[in-house]
Amino acid sequence: MCGIVGYTGPREAYPIIIKGLKRLEYRGYDSTGVALQNGGIKVYKKKGKVAELEDTIVGKNLHANVGIGHTRWATHGEPSDRNAHPHQSASGKLAMIHNGIIENYSQLKNELLKKGYTFKSDTDTEVLLNFIEEIKTNNNCSLEEAVRVALKRVTGAYVILLLDAEEPETIIAARKGSPLVIGVGKGEHFLGSDASPMLEYTKEVVYVNDYELAIIKPDELILKNLGNEKITPYIQKLDLELAAIEKGGYEHFMLKEIFEQPQTIYDCLRGRLDAEAGTITMSGIEQYANQIKNARRIVMIACGTSWHAGLVAEYVIEELCRLNVEVEYASEFRYRNPVIDEGDIIVAISQSGETADTLVAIETAKSKGAIILGVVNVVGSSIARASHGGAYTHAGPEIGVASTKAFTAQLAVLTMIALKIANIKGTISHERYMLLLKELNEVPEKVAWVLKNADKVKKLAEKYKDADDFLYLARGYNFPVALEGALKLKEISYIHAEGYPAAEMKHGPIALVDETLPVVFIATKDAYHEKVVSNMQEIKARKGKVISVITEGDDLSTSLSDDVMIIPEADEIVAPIISVVPLQLLAYYIGVARGCDVDKPRNLAKSVTVE
Ligand code: M6R
Repeated sequence: MCGIVGYTGPREAYPIIIKGLKRLEYRGYDSTGVALQNGGIKVYKKKGKVAELEDTIVGKNLHANVGIGHTRWATHGEPSDRNAHPHQSASGKLAMIHNGIIENYSQLKNELLKKGYTFKSDTDTEVLLNFIEEIKTNNNCSLEEAVRVALKRVTGAYVILLLDAEEPETIIAARKGSPLVIGVGKGEHFLGSDASPMLEYTKEVVYVNDYELAIIKPDELILKNLGNEKITPYIQKLDLELAAIEKGGYEHFMLKEIFEQPQTIYDCLRGRLDAEAGTITMSGIEQYANQIKNARRIVMIACGTSWHAGLVAEYVIEELCRLNVEVEYASEFRYRNPVIDEGDIIVAISQSGETADTLVAIETAKSKGAIILGVVNVVGSSIARASHGGAYTHAGPEIGVASTKAFTAQLAVLTMIALKIANIKGTISHERYMLLLKELNEVPEKVAWVLKNADKVKKLAEKYKDADDFLYLARGYNFPVALEGALKLKEISYIHAEGYPAAEMKHGPIALVDETLPVVFIATKDAYHEKVVSNMQEIKARKGKVISVITEGDDLSTSLSDDVMIIPEADEIVAPIISVVPLQLLAYYIGVARGCDVDKPRNLAKSVTVE
């Protein structure tokens, strides 16, 4: 996590850096800092969000044409002014920002302590910076050389940006395991954790790869590997507009992103699904058609909301393709010794494409001969590049920390993949295949229908906002939606919430039920409906408050519920893409009603690039 920004060129660096940091705050917001080349290196940093730093440095001389900035998600050392980045080296001549974790920092720190170094912060970053300075001084070499030597000793993940008072126009950058984009302008360069800080200045970008080091001056970009060999930068054109990363009149990014879903799901299907012709075009999947056809199983790896998407896909693929699917938390998978055979298909699901656990899990599976298919939102991200094939979700930039539109786009892509495999394997009848294509095609308008009733969900939020706990229950395809509904509520409103398969309730969670407990059922019309209705009766009998997501016209569920959120009729295979939407709204409105910062919930970051 952490967001990094840099600039070198003829413009004023400070406003570019501050604006860029605001766009990257989704990556962490524990503290903020900038370092500017202004007759020596000047560092300004503060605990808290970017706006708080801005307030404290009003009136300072911030003139500089070169600078770096950082927004932090704390790992080593509490959020505080002194642990905020940039850090300065012992001599004060170097400044550095860092995204990632230096795993062997305590060993390096001990070496430096023996040499008489002292440290002002608790961070691994300050250790690495002084380690670099020690090499530079001892070897009387350039900063570039010192960084290269130092990084050979480092284990862990990093993107680092460094300034050197002796080379005031240059930024040195290096990456392993955390993202770094360099924007190429005319006589200027921009740096960022993603492309958002540079959108209005250039559309030409270079995605720096692991183990690469960049020497960046206003009119020169040199890329090298750690063996000091030059690499030709591969310049790509950005397909991203500024409007996509702005709030567009909504109070929060999360609300904007919830309301974007009819469009984002449509964008995800567009050009791929042709319901009339009965075709699904996904070249990144098609090229592995034979391997998928003959695969023994599919393993989904992901974290958080993306893991929930994997769970829905497990139900759908097993049903339609008669193919064994396992869904793994990437964070567990990578530390086990998982049984992966040559030819196993791994589907890696990730919004950001930068989640460290998922990335390492991919490498583990790759080393055992698996084929990796990425279902990723951020184009050009590390997971997208580490995958053999796959499909982008095309949901556009998701800024709110709670994932919403990325989830529904993941479900849309995974459902298309399931239908494609089922068609290839011949495990689905032509009639059912055609019906499901039509159903999938209709999802955007059904989601739009749900969103028209957002005000009703807002009223429910007012009614239930003071509850201490929530239970979310469902069966079958909607069970992962229960997990997702509970996760959304937890992260946005800090209310404790649990998701369970409805049938599991009687094995323990039912003990929680009393007249104060809201129990949210996802009770849409599907093969499990009668069973879910029985579970509702059990909650009612114990005086729990029943809030249900139901299919339009379901009078029985309505009569058993204290409150309902209605979705239009839809086939059970696509229903999760629709039934999750009222739960996103419920979490959002409860979070707002409780005064929470829904776009930047406490302790969280959008992109989890630490383990
Ligand atoms: O970027 P990814 O999809 O790999 O991220 C995985 C999780 O960190 C993410 O889904 C997280 O759980 C969200 N905050 C959920 O809203």
